[in-house]
Amino acid sequence: MSERERTFVMIKPDAFARGLVGTVVSRLEDRGLNLVGMKVEILDEETAHEHYAEHEDKPFFDDLVDFITSGPVVPMVWEGEDATRQVRQMIGATDPLEADAGTIRGDYALDLGRNVVHAADHEDEGANEREIAIHFDEDELVSYEGHDETWLYE
Ligand code: RTP
Ligand code: MG
Repeated sequence: MSERERTFVMIKPDAFARGLVGTVVSRLEDRGLNLVGMKVEILDEETAHEHYAEHEDKPFFDDLVDFITSGPVVPMVWEGEDATRQVRQMIGATDPLEADAGTIRGDYALDLGRNVVHAADHEDEGANEREIAIHFDEDELVSYEGHDETWLYE
């Protein structure tokens, strides 16, 4: 069943440096999702470890932490029906080589380690709550009803 939910998304340092912040935000806005939280920050090592804790034992973990702490990122929270699955579908496969054209990674990335955007995993049940709590305080997120909801939802 469709459910209105909040999902965590983060523009990575490669996309920030390449001036793709507006492009990524536009894609999600155009789809009809509501932006409820957003900031610019440079992650410290501890936060990066927490964010990517599930990959701690992987051989690429150190490179992942080095990259994600290497420059500004844009953590965001987006809201909508099935928002987590909608966003994962929009960003495309992890490896840009496998990502369909028309997805964010398929259109703007070439390399597995420079894939523009992070999104919470819809197959990991607690991912949104955990990742939102790492990057935002509750009072940094807003609640509102979008003016176009009648035309977005049945
Ligand atoms: P993300 O967490 O960044 O949204 O990406 P994802 O869910 O699509 O992929 P995930 O499996 O969570 O991997 C996190 C990031 O680690 C890098 N990676 N490198 N060298 C490798 O084999 C490898 N595998 C993954 C990617 O940059 C991926 O986005
Ligand atoms: Mg992931």
